[in-house]
Amino acid sequence: MQQRRLERQKVHVTSNGSAKTAPAGMLPDDHIFVDNVVKTFGDTQVLRGVTMHLKKRQTAVVIGGSGAGKTTLLRMLIALEKPTTGHIWVEGEDIAPLGEVELNRVRQKFGMVFQYAALLDSMTIFENVVFPLREHRKRMPRREQREKVLNMLKLLGLEGKENRMPSELSGGQRKRVGLARALMLEPRILIYDEPTSGLDPITSRMVDDLIEETRDRFGVTSVVISHDMTSTFRIAHQAYLLVRGEVIAEGTPDELAYGSNEAAREFIAASGIAPDRISRVDDQKEGGDGTVKYKAM
Ligand SMILES: Nc1ncnc2c1ncn2[C@@H]1O[C@H](COP(=O)(O)OP(=O)(O)O)[C@@H](O)[C@H]1O
Ligand SMILES: [Mg+2]
Repeated sequence: MQQRRLERQKVHVTSNGSAKTAPAGMLPDDHIFVDNVVKTFGDTQVLRGVTMHLKKRQTAVVIGGSGAGKTTLLRMLIALEKPTTGHIWVEGEDIAPLGEVELNRVRQKFGMVFQYAALLDSMTIFENVVFPLREHRKRMPRREQREKVLNMLKLLGLEGKENRMPSELSGGQRKRVGLARALMLEPRILIYDEPTSGLDPITSRMVDDLIEETRDRFGVTSVVISHDMTSTFRIAHQAYLLVRGEVIAEGTPDELAYGSNEAAREFIAASGIAPDRISRVDDQKEGGDGTVKYKAM
């Protein structure tokens, strides 16, 4: 009852019970609201007032060239780094002023899928995937941990691979192991750091499918940091073009390719892709029966 009343007044109740007024500009379906974030290192302004609405259960792609500020932005989203000015609202909570203990709680809302999967080569697949549970769910019985890992491996088409070493798997399989590990703590937001970087076109395509299938299946919000324009066109609901720390254009891929923003059209043209020849991952699903097709990877 009280919660209802607060919602009507546009007041958000955070998980520790404190009430905060929703900031101007935040939209009802914002999972993360990046509000005019500036980041400087010494004299260098790396992010110059970035605003983004990362919507629940959608895929947002932040695309930009090397040095644009993508990694810096990513580190602030997952609360590893604080904005110099501006705010980041995660599920209605401003994380900028939080202390270390609170930040650790916020960090658990995120799953990270690192570039090149970042598996530990000397550990088996099982040991790699169970790692977050051993770190953050110490009281979960070993048997339950094992069951959870094996279930996830099965869901991602990796059944029977638990005793293999990373070097024994294909690039696509290793990506799925990295994803399994990121999903262990049941995050609500998945962040992918350059997921298609260094992959051949066929594997890239499979990773794009994997990102969207995972979003469908687990109901997560996805944020993809990328410099791959083809992948952006295949998976983004919303794309942000980041140039020298500034969002120079945002919108659906089609809005960027065919809209009135000249900078966006130039940026896309410079990437050398033909937007009309790329179709969204969704459009290629047959029947939409919810089955996941990981086998070819
Ligand atoms: N800790 C830091 N100290 C000083 N400069 C930094 C730091 N982190 C990043 N930068 C600078 O910020 C700019 C953007 O870097 P980064 O966020 O890594 O870009 P991207 O990931 O898009 O390549 C670069 O010019 C980089 O040198
Ligand atoms: Mg980077």
